[in-house]
Amino acid sequence: PTYKEPFRPQFHFTPYHNWMNDPNGLVYYKGEYHLFYQYNPMGNTWGHMSWGHAVSRDLVRWQPLALAIPEDDKNMIFSGSCVVDKNNSSGFGKKPGQIPLVAIYTAHIIPDKTKPDDYQQNQHIAYSLDDGRTWKKYDGNPVLDLKKKDFRDPKVFWYGPGKKWIMAIVLPQEHIVQFHGSTDLKTWSHLSDFGPAGDTNDIWECPDLLQVPITGQPGKSKWVLINSQQTTMQYFVGEFDGIRFQNENPADTILRPDYGPDFYAAVTYNNLPPGQDPVLLGWANNWKYGQSIPTSPWRSAMSVPRSLRLKKSGNTWILLQQPVKSLLSLRGNVTEWKSKIISGETVFPAKGQVIELDADLIPAKNAICGVRLAAGGGQSIIIGYNADSAKLYIDRSNSGNTYFNNQFAAWQYSSARVPLQDGKLRLHIFFDKSIVEVFANDGATVLTAQLFPSATHDGIEFFSEKGPTRIPIAKVWSLSSAWK
Ligand code: FRU
Repeated sequence: PTYKEPFRPQFHFTPYHNWMNDPNGLVYYKGEYHLFYQYNPMGNTWGHMSWGHAVSRDLVRWQPLALAIPEDDKNMIFSGSCVVDKNNSSGFGKKPGQIPLVAIYTAHIIPDKTKPDDYQQNQHIAYSLDDGRTWKKYDGNPVLDLKKKDFRDPKVFWYGPGKKWIMAIVLPQEHIVQFHGSTDLKTWSHLSDFGPAGDTNDIWECPDLLQVPITGQPGKSKWVLINSQQTTMQYFVGEFDGIRFQNENPADTILRPDYGPDFYAAVTYNNLPPGQDPVLLGWANNWKYGQSIPTSPWRSAMSVPRSLRLKKSGNTWILLQQPVKSLLSLRGNVTEWKSKIISGETVFPAKGQVIELDADLIPAKNAICGVRLAAGGGQSIIIGYNADSAKLYIDRSNSGNTYFNNQFAAWQYSSARVPLQDGKLRLHIFFDKSIVEVFANDGATVLTAQLFPSATHDGIEFFSEKGPTRIPIAKVWSLSSAWK
């Protein structure tokens, strides 16, 4: 494998070939970060859903492994999670001291293949006794069955204070996250329901419940409940007592982990070493057009892994997301600007389609300013800021190939409100061939978008209209490929 095809990300995970969607079974064990993912072993669009597998020691360089959990003649293997069963609560470990990894996932069952819409979903488990290399499906499946058509995406984690496993899982149509508890991963009892709440415009998928440290308050944390909704995501912040999650943010506030079009089904790692902040990984694609993006022989990438913290902003708890530190190891040449004033447009003295950019912008009162990447031939993707409306936006309408799908063409623009911090906007951007991830103001707001520019369009331009923008500092690093 070369990983050198047009649009192939160089530091975002992609399967070498075929279709991928949600990250699944994120778990850290024995020095390895496991990444399982929704995968079609037979083709480059959705189907035959199975769990693909890769491992990494740093969350940046990935080693692809054999298909972990394949579909069988009865079930497709939908999204789910993975736990380290340290005390062998499941009894799957046979030799003394043997620690099973247990995967908990949704079985998607189509009893009559001529009627694919008459499906059922229930929860299955599988286990590995060789550190995730090979998997065996439990012969007592299903372990949780509500006889529902839609009931999916179990995220299981160990809840220390209650000495039990907790499962967060969705009833998609009802906009409900259910919590179930278990002591052996094989029998589950219903604990509580959360929802409908927040954004209920579309079906809920892929929940996660996790504890996130509060920045600047060592030892303090809050619980965050995340869910996906077809094309976007939301989160709630509050407390979990082992049974119930209580949202403490204002009920009418809708908060999104990402305001761009291409961040979905994100979930966090289980079993991270003590002291490590939670790590969130999302699917950098969108169901509206994802199956026709112009890449081959693969489709879809994961976002960069993001470390999580919380901070209070007014009366609202918000997530701070930072690209994981190990990405620093890819940094190559740096080009730096100091004390620049932009009025109109200025070309930055570096180029590249695999870069990291970190810049502070101080816009004049009504200025519209920002940076254009993948610039060339009159095209670019615009990461802009409107100082008047305090909106940060991505405009990809003239960023290259936007014609492959009319839903992609229809979604050219995304924005989010980002108040200046001490008059400043900090933009920390990762651009990787066909993905741009923008972390604004220390990750308080993030936007992720795909683009499909010509390989020769690699210019970087800063702009400021309707007034000047001061740039006290801007740095651009070329990043090396994680596929070596
Ligand atoms: C989310 C999702 C999940 C489901 C999986 C199927 O993207 O629809 O709800 O488990 O994808 O591939």
